[in-house]
Amino acid sequence: MPDLKINDAMHHVDVPPEMPLLWVLRDVIGMTGTKFGCGIAQCGACTVHLDGEPVRSCVLPVGSIGTRAVTTIEAIGATPAGRAIQKAWLDIEVVQCGYCQSGQIMSAAALVQQVRAPTDRDIDAAMSGNICRCGTYVRIRAAIKQAAQHVADQPQASSASIATR
Ligand code: FES
Ligand code: FES
Repeated sequence: MPDLKINDAMHHVDVPPEMPLLWVLRDVIGMTGTKFGCGIAQCGACTVHLDGEPVRSCVLPVGSIGTRAVTTIEAIGATPAGRAIQKAWLDIEVVQCGYCQSGQIMSAAALVQQVRAPTDRDIDAAMSGNICRCGTYVRIRAAIKQAAQHVADQPQASSASIATR
């Protein structure tokens, strides 16, 4: 197994290559912010970023990652989009029980990173794989729009790293 780049740090893990990344994160490395929900790529609770793209870590064999960078909920606040999402989540008090929310935040941060002014349709498309049993969808949508506006209002962040759709 090659070392894994997770949250800008290299990790040597001695595990079978077919082990899902989620197991490595939680049980081997001890990063428990990423949650197990369904284990079959249906709920989104386990969402992390792989080179900035949201992926379901419960079905991602760790041996398939190679040199790509993994970002988890523990480090998403270090990015402009992730920071804006976290602030909006708090401002709007999105969270109810919280179980789905690290996955929601990871999908939302990727969307805000990639789309300057997401429409309702953009949000529905990006977030459709993240299930919330508490039904926080309306607040999630509002928080994504607030975060996108915040990022767009930051000249340095927006010009450096945000797409111009
Ligand atoms: S735990 Fe991975 S999608 Fe549900
Ligand atoms: S906040 Fe409870 S499942 Fe989403």
